[in-house]
Amino acid sequence: MKVSVIGSGYVGTVTAACFAELGHNVVCIDIDPEKVDMINRGKPPIYEEGLEELLNKHVGKNIRATTDYDDAVTNTDISFICVGTPSDDNGNIDLGIVKAASQSLGSAIGKKDGYHVVVVKSTVVPETTEKVVVPIIEQASGRKPGVDFGAGMNPEFLREGKAVHDFMHPDKIVIGAIDQRSDDTISALYAGLKCQIKHTCQITHTDPGTAEMIKYVNNSFLATKISFSNEIGNICKKMGIDTYKVMEAVGKDSRISPNFLNSGAGFGGSCFPKDVKALIGKAKELGYEPGLLESVINVNEVQPLMMIDLLESCTGDLGGKRIAVLGLAFKNDTDDIRESRSIPVIRALLDKGAKVSSYDPMAADNMKAIYPDIEYCDSAIHALKGANGCLVMTEWDEFKGLCSEFKVMRRPLVVDGRNMIQCEDIEYVGLCW
Ligand code: UGA
Repeated sequence: MKVSVIGSGYVGTVTAACFAELGHNVVCIDIDPEKVDMINRGKPPIYEEGLEELLNKHVGKNIRATTDYDDAVTNTDISFICVGTPSDDNGNIDLGIVKAASQSLGSAIGKKDGYHVVVVKSTVVPETTEKVVVPIIEQASGRKPGVDFGAGMNPEFLREGKAVHDFMHPDKIVIGAIDQRSDDTISALYAGLKCQIKHTCQITHTDPGTAEMIKYVNNSFLATKISFSNEIGNICKKMGIDTYKVMEAVGKDSRISPNFLNSGAGFGGSCFPKDVKALIGKAKELGYEPGLLESVINVNEVQPLMMIDLLESCTGDLGGKRIAVLGLAFKNDTDDIRESRSIPVIRALLDKGAKVSSYDPMAADNMKAIYPDIEYCDSAIHALKGANGCLVMTEWDEFKGLCSEFKVMRRPLVVDGRNMIQCEDIEYVGLCW
């Protein structure tokens, strides 16, 4: 099939490259000529494991990029909207980019002969596809939905850093279409893809609003598991109980599963905080107070500060003390610092007069834009040298091997926000036990 993908961020570029790998002919559309040029040279605009290999394999054959909507839409059967959906100042979803992309897409569809299908892959609040995107396309193209063009919502469940793997080995595929013809067209794209659990993917077929809700609930539920585990961890800590032992046993219940029960510094990234807040905003707009979801965010905001309390309870006043922060990215294998828990931690350390020495294998340059004046070291051992305490903020593999390195600290005291350090002979304060 001939597919166009609007937006060359992490979802768009991965979707485009993976559809090419599945044998489709793909055109990427982006308003940024630099990104378009990079893709045409086989260079991904963002880092994702395995993405460069896929682009190199397919560029010049069945994938190309352009800034020209008309060219891309006229030459394809189906378009995916994969643009950003940031939060506005109140935490609600800002649909400005989705609307602009829909407008350009609609006007290109108006110039095309024949049927076209529009699919929203961007994470949007329920009702957006049917009440915002479809009407814009209808008005901009002068065509009728369900007759001249089809539409649907097909959420992604890709983890940053593992997005190519997750696309090619999904747990599930969800297609929310406005009618059967749209559903059949979208479903055909995934034919042949093998799912994690079963060999042939059982697609969940539904309407667009339900598909939009499934995405929000997926992320909100995972975020809830983490905040729940953090709250239990905080209670366990006060009683001297090892919360990781507790959650390990709890996770053995097949109804619960062992994943996302790891307490510590809390969740970051561009998705969980934004999506939970957007669902809260939508609920309130409908006159419902979502107390549980608000608690998920509240627990997550307090959690990194509890690491500072723990540190202070061991070192006393932090004024003038050198504190090493290991890990700046919101999780391992990425340079992304959006909503990283190290941001509030560094803020609190600086407010208390501490001197921060930091290390991250990928994310230091990004953090410099927020904290230009803290110390950025080129290795963990340099950050640790002479420190009075250390906070582990990101689950980088290389931190698992640290032990003798902690001995270069003035006081080998480690507050581990990711449950990954295991050393016998250091003063060692896990976050929650
Ligand atoms: C998340 C979801 O996992 C994807 O399924 C979804 O597609 C994506 O958001 C999205 O909406 O685009 P991602 O943000 O890449 O993916 O990150 P995760 O690997 O899920 O981790 C999120 C945060 O939770 C990280 O800061 C991680 O350190 C933290 N976490 C994770 C915990 O604090 N405890 C855990 O037990 C697990």
